[in-house]
Amino acid sequence: MLKRVLPYAHSLLEAAIEEGDVTVDATVGNGHDTYVLAKLVGPNGKVYGFDIQQVALENAHKRLQESNLQKRVELFLKSHDQIESVIPTEFHKKIKAAIFNLGYLPGGDKTIVTTPDSSVSAVKQLLTIMPAGGIIVIVVYHGHPEGQIERDQLIQYVRTIDQKQAQVLQYQFLNQINHAPFVIAIEKIKA
Ligand SMILES: C[S@@+](CC[C@H](N)C(=O)[O-])C[C@H]1O[C@@H](n2cnc3c(N)ncnc32)[C@H](O)[C@@H]1O
Repeated sequence: MLKRVLPYAHSLLEAAIEEGDVTVDATVGNGHDTYVLAKLVGPNGKVYGFDIQQVALENAHKRLQESNLQKRVELFLKSHDQIESVIPTEFHKKIKAAIFNLGYLPGGDKTIVTTPDSSVSAVKQLLTIMPAGGIIVIVVYHGHPEGQIERDQLIQYVRTIDQKQAQVLQYQFLNQINHAPFVIAIEKIKA
């Protein structure tokens, strides 16, 4: 009955996104989430994707091309802490959902990981620019040492978000061993 972490994260995206919406994949990686977002926004919607590794964007582009979804996706070889400046202002209030899958690229260089400062900065930017009703879904991987620091800083930050501005949820299996990943979801309720 209880959804595992990634299906749960995707179910939140499905609930929030309608055809024609603008969405953000803040950590494109191999493009699994970009693909999910691209399907959900439909032919008139848009996905802005960010990653700092060329190989990730190439893998994602290939995946999207195989399903003919590449036209609704714009990929940037840039850090997600540039979200606010990269996404044109006229689209800010159309951003209905964003997803982060933190950590390192599966099958890639494990020394290149998301970092607390840029992750927190990206979440702050999204929360500022997106409309009420928008959702930010973060899948937190904390099995590696940097991941534990990132987890702690993220949790410290999201606990300070005014409850009138957003609802913040943590979805986590408490009896799994080995630092099982968990979800933080932030639903903006007031601009
Ligand atoms: C766990 S992977 C993402 C997996 C991806 N969602 C998928 O479906 O394959 C994390 C990714 O975040 C990227 N990354 C690390 N720091 C970043 C940053 N500051 N901005 C954007 N992406 C970043 C890494 O290069 C890596 O590809």
